[in-house]
Amino acid sequence: MKVKKKVKIKKKNFMILILIIMSISTLTYTGMNFFYSNQNDKTYKKIIKDKRLEELGNIDEKLNYFNKDYIDRYLKYKENNPNLSNKEIVLNVNIGLDNPFYTNTKEATDLYENTILVNKYNYLNADYEPKDLEEVNTYYARNGMKLVKEAKEQYEAMAKAAENANLKLVISSSYRSYQYQENLYNNYVIQDGEEIANTYSAKPGFSEHQTGLAIDLSNGKTSYTDFENTEEFKWMQENAYKYGFILRFPEDKVNVTGYQYEPWHYRYLGIKIASYIHENKISYEEYYAMFLEN
Ligand code: DAL
Ligand code: ZN
Repeated sequence: MKVKKKVKIKKKNFMILILIIMSISTLTYTGMNFFYSNQNDKTYKKIIKDKRLEELGNIDEKLNYFNKDYIDRYLKYKENNPNLSNKEIVLNVNIGLDNPFYTNTKEATDLYENTILVNKYNYLNADYEPKDLEEVNTYYARNGMKLVKEAKEQYEAMAKAAENANLKLVISSSYRSYQYQENLYNNYVIQDGEEIANTYSAKPGFSEHQTGLAIDLSNGKTSYTDFENTEEFKWMQENAYKYGFILRFPEDKVNVTGYQYEPWHYRYLGIKIASYIHENKISYEEYYAMFLEN
C-alpha cells in the first residue's frame, strides 16, 4: 500500500515539474519573440528616420523646435520650396505656412496671456473677451479705446515719452469684439471683395484686436493710414520695443503674417519679447515658433 502511494506521489510531482518547465519555456519563447520584434521595429524606424533626415539635407535636428511629427510636411514643403534653407523650412512649417491661410486652423492657446498668438491659423472664439480691459486716457486715444490693463499702462507711458519728444501718439483703434470685427470685415468685403479685404482685414475671430493687446496709431493730425510718413512713426521704430510694443505686420514679412505692411499696427508683448523681436528683425510668428510653441 505504502509503496503504491509513494509511486503515485512521485508521478504527481513529475507531472507538476513537466508543467512548470513547459510554462517557463513558453513564456521565455514569447518574451524573446516580443523583444526581437520590438528591436527590429526600432531599428527599422531608425533607418527610415535617418533616410528621411538625409532627404531633408541633414537638417540640424538640434533646432529644438524641430518636430519629428512634421517630417512628412517638412519634406513636402522642401520639395515645393527648394530655395529655402532647412531652418526656414522647419520654421515655416511649424508656423503653418505649408497650408494656405485660414486652413488647418486651431483655437489660440495662451488665452488671457500677453503671449497669445492670433493670426490666420489661430483664432479666438466669438465669446472671447480679454480680462482687465481698461479705457485709455483720451489725451492719447480716441474716446472709448480699451486695452488690457498692462498694455494700457505701457502705452500711456510710451505716449508720454513721445510727448516729451514733442510728438503725439493717438490710438484710433484698439480692442475690438468679435462682433465688431465681423461688421468691419463684412463691410470691407462689400467694398473691395474678399480677396483684397483679406490682405488688410482679419476675418472675425482671427483679429489680434480681439486680444486687447493691439493698437492702430495716428499722430492725431493725419489718418492712421498716413502714419508711415510721420515723425511719430520714426520715433516708434526706435522706441516702441522699450515699452513692449512691436510693429506687427512689417513690410518684409507679408508672406509670414498674411497681411500687407501696416506701419500703424502695433502689438503689446512685454519688453523682453519685444526687444528680442526688434533686435533680430523677426515676426511674432517666427518668435512664437522658435520659443513658445510646444
Ligand atoms: N488689420 C488687422 C490685420 C486686423 O484686421 O486685425
Ligand atoms: Zn490694427
